[in-house]
Amino acid sequence: MTQDRFMSPMAQDEELDQLSLRPQKLNEYIGQRKIKAELAIYITAAKQRQEALDHVLLYGPPGLGKTTLAMVIGNELEVKVQTTSGPAIERPGDLLAILNELNPGDILFIDEIHRLPRLVEEVLYSAMEDYFVDIVIGQGPTAHPVHFQLPPFTLIGATTRAGQLSQPLRDRFGIIGHMAYYDTQELEWIVDRSARVFDTKVESQAALEIALRSRGTPRIANRILRRVRDFAQVKGDGIITPQLTQEALETLGIDQRGLDQIDRKLLQTMIEFYQGGPVGLSTIAVNIGEDVETVEDMYEPYLLQNGFLQRTPRGRRVTALAYQHLGLTPNNEKEEEQTEC
Ligand code: ADE
Repeated sequence: MTQDRFMSPMAQDEELDQLSLRPQKLNEYIGQRKIKAELAIYITAAKQRQEALDHVLLYGPPGLGKTTLAMVIGNELEVKVQTTSGPAIERPGDLLAILNELNPGDILFIDEIHRLPRLVEEVLYSAMEDYFVDIVIGQGPTAHPVHFQLPPFTLIGATTRAGQLSQPLRDRFGIIGHMAYYDTQELEWIVDRSARVFDTKVESQAALEIALRSRGTPRIANRILRRVRDFAQVKGDGIITPQLTQEALETLGIDQRGLDQIDRKLLQTMIEFYQGGPVGLSTIAVNIGEDVETVEDMYEPYLLQNGFLQRTPRGRRVTALAYQHLGLTPNNEKEEEQTEC
């Protein structure tokens, strides 16, 4: 854990919370049943053979526990997990420096692996396949190739955009896990578990309300739980009741379906300025002041999955449900457009 005295109190709190909120073992990890069941077998097999686990790619929307699962895999294998991210590795030498720290069987976790520079990605191919890297050291006339042998290791890559990985990189992962949104029951369990970590009592109706408004995402459920805990502490007797939960959710601007101000702004902008669409993603992003990646990764998937948005060949379109949810009436009936598969 980083004990940085310049870290803001909020960041320190969140970091402490995150560490203890994170389950340590597969049997404590709630949800993602399919991936867990598969991993349990592959981990046991790798341990029995005393080999490094095959490389793992975890992909799915943000906040669903990809990093947590990587740490759990490390704990189950009883190996060290070196953590980094795609944008942090600028040159092949940066990658080599990290790989050099690994002991046999250790894990290298690369978050946002789709953002690795192409040159680094190419070095990774031989590292993953045959545990060696060939890189050029020095510049100009003194430049010379050097061969480094590596210990067997496991690469765990996490990404919100599997489609952006090159085919050769994707092909080198033997285990591919798609992280799905959590259902209400799973989120209730997570809220209950987190409340126990916080040593706070949460009434079951309140846990349900938080679960329903967390857009299938544990990170959001835990964020809401923290804020409701503050309300309960200051305005109540510390117990998280449904009433305090409602009050906190209203203050946070999170509505019955879990949409926040930005989700609503996105839908409203499409309706007000583009008659509900179809409209391109980059146009939507500019209009609401967010970057395209954020809209595509954080807002759009939930709105699509829950029927507020549709993808059409000519762009995104709001649905009747979105109008209904915002209390608006479509003013011109449009022909139904073919939806993209
Ligand atoms: N906290 C956050 N995500 C979790 C999960 N999937 N299981 C248990 N606790 C969690």
